[in-house]
Amino acid sequence: MRTWEELERDCGSCTRCGLCRTRHNVVFGVGPRDADVMFVGEGPGEQEDLRGEPFVGPAGMLLDDMLSIIDLGRHNCYIANIVKCRPPHNRDPQEQEQEACIDYLRDQMALVRPKVIVCLGRIAAMKLIKPDFRITREHGGWMEKGGVWFTAMYHPSALLRDVSKRPETFEDLLSLREKLRELQVEL
Ligand code: URA
Repeated sequence: MRTWEELERDCGSCTRCGLCRTRHNVVFGVGPRDADVMFVGEGPGEQEDLRGEPFVGPAGMLLDDMLSIIDLGRHNCYIANIVKCRPPHNRDPQEQEQEACIDYLRDQMALVRPKVIVCLGRIAAMKLIKPDFRITREHGGWMEKGGVWFTAMYHPSALLRDVSKRPETFEDLLSLREKLRELQVEL
């Protein structure tokens, strides 16, 4: 497996898919490299592409608010995306773009070795939990794979568009807090 330095270097110069032609910055990921909790979104938006950091735009602000509900600070979590370069006009990343990029995330997961991985939205849940994951029906559920606990919640962008989904997300956040307590993760 690659070291952090090798991984960051390879990712930073990646040309494995067409998204490299329109990106301003590769959005590698941020957070402690030994975090117990990892959040995975789908791909950078405009602000993230300009700044090279995940979840720093409007969805990121809402993510910070969501984390604060359960006293989880962004600085305690590792945050990354399924694809590291912005899909034009924020379209969904295509399957072949996800496939080209997923090795970077797999290496990040193996290096961080978090206890819990939270998929933000359908795209991350389908890639990391199961291909037929239905976010409306299955958000908030838990699945253990290889010693890591996975769950999914609505993507903060979806919660910005549709506030009626927020109460369910509140429940999912409480469930996350409960799981972290169970695993004796310090918040
Ligand atoms: N949406 C995502 O999925 N990831 C980001 O980093 C920002 C917005």
